[in-house]
Amino acid sequence: MEQTLVRDDKIWVRVAAVTDIPLLGARVVETASGKPVALFRTGALKVLAVLDRCPHKAGPLSQGLVHGERVTCPLHSWQIDLNNGEAVAPDVGCAKSFVVLQDADSVYLLADDLK
Ligand code: FES
Repeated sequence: MEQTLVRDDKIWVRVAAVTDIPLLGARVVETASGKPVALFRTGALKVLAVLDRCPHKAGPLSQGLVHGERVTCPLHSWQIDLNNGEAVAPDVGCAKSFVVLQDADSVYLLADDLK
């Protein structure tokens, strides 16, 4: 059964344990409609989430190299800012980003984003 919590009048769904996500790596979860959401662990506990589709040619960002709060796409090396999904200049484009709620153990996404 999925774990949910209510905070700030929003429903959040637990999607992973923080430790399920490799440090400086990613884990992919799917929305109900099958969209892949990549959860990136950028620091000891910090997790950021963007759609697992590069805005260039849909490369799997979850397989890229995480550095700081960016990921380098494995296909053509665009850099994506994991805070907002924006490509770093001179490249232009944006992957959808997701709001993450986390505590020391768990990572939550908004129930509305998981539809
Ligand atoms: S598909 Fe990501 S850089 Fe080309």
